[in-house]
Amino acid sequence: MIAPVEPRSHTLEMPFAAGRSFLKVDRISKSFSRGSATTEVLREVSLGIEKGEFVSIIGHSGCGKSTLLNLVAGLTQVSHGAILLEDHEVNAPGPERAVVFQNHSLLPWLTVYENVALAVDKVFGSRKPRAERRAWVMHNLELVQMAHAKDKRPAEISGGMKQRVGIARALSMEPKVLLLDEPFGALDALTRAHLQDSVMQIHARLGNTVIMITHDVDEAVLLSDRIVMMTNGPAATIGEILDVQLPRPRRRLELVAHPIYLAMREAVLKFLYERHAQPALLAAE
Ligand SMILES: Nc1ncnc2c1ncn2[C@@H]1O[C@H](COP(=O)(O)OP(=O)(O)OP(=O)(O)O)[C@@H](O)[C@H]1O
Ligand SMILES: [Mg+2]
Repeated sequence: MIAPVEPRSHTLEMPFAAGRSFLKVDRISKSFSRGSATTEVLREVSLGIEKGEFVSIIGHSGCGKSTLLNLVAGLTQVSHGAILLEDHEVNAPGPERAVVFQNHSLLPWLTVYENVALAVDKVFGSRKPRAERRAWVMHNLELVQMAHAKDKRPAEISGGMKQRVGIARALSMEPKVLLLDEPFGALDALTRAHLQDSVMQIHARLGNTVIMITHDVDEAVLLSDRIVMMTNGPAATIGEILDVQLPRPRRRLELVAHPIYLAMREAVLKFLYERHAQPALLAAE
């Protein structure tokens, strides 16, 4: 019999003190205004992330996950509070915070190689000689196993391959933080599993700091060091944070019956479907 494992979590009573973190989200709020109406999407969100950590954000649709990621990306501005990366305030996009969206955003008229090269030239154009930049593009395509398709255009490759190229492009900028907004959301289960494994291997090899939004509980547990669970909006905030103390490297088949894995999975499911079930879901019962 498997002994029950009590997942270690920080509950609402404990403030998510950002402390002296690599990335600090410090009591941020975000409101959107339309005419005279203002909606507060996020309220008092605080989170500290250490260098090299893999953090997932999970929560019901519309709670504000993408809004939070976009704020860290610098694509939108906080209404209150601050976001600091290595003590520098974030208020604009920058290559040190590369984003991969759910639907790839490759330029259709460029080849796979050219799509990555565009980012590399922009970031390193003045610092690295041409041959070095070329080798760097190929290195990043190799990391995601896409070097063989370097001369293909986005329309000629599958959805999973496009996401791989998107990840290569993001990695090629050598970001301090990699921001993934449901990067595997549009993929079939098998392709998704392959890409999750690739991301795990890349994370193990490069030690990137990653923030990933996901709707997939298994994906969150498999990949993350911590899972940030958000309450429902409006005025959403962090409800709880789970420490995923599963040893690495992690292999999905070995984990399916692991007591910690099962306990984590249950904790996330209970958070989402018991304590913070969407009002629409509750009404339907
Ligand atoms: N630019 C904007 N202007 C006005 N409202 C916005 C804007 N961006 C997001 N919102 C609102 O903020 C709320 C949170 O949206 P967000 O996209 O962050 O949710 P999400 O958690 O990422 O949802 P999903 O899981 O469906 O992607 C929604 O109610 C949305 O309508
Ligand atoms: Mg979203």
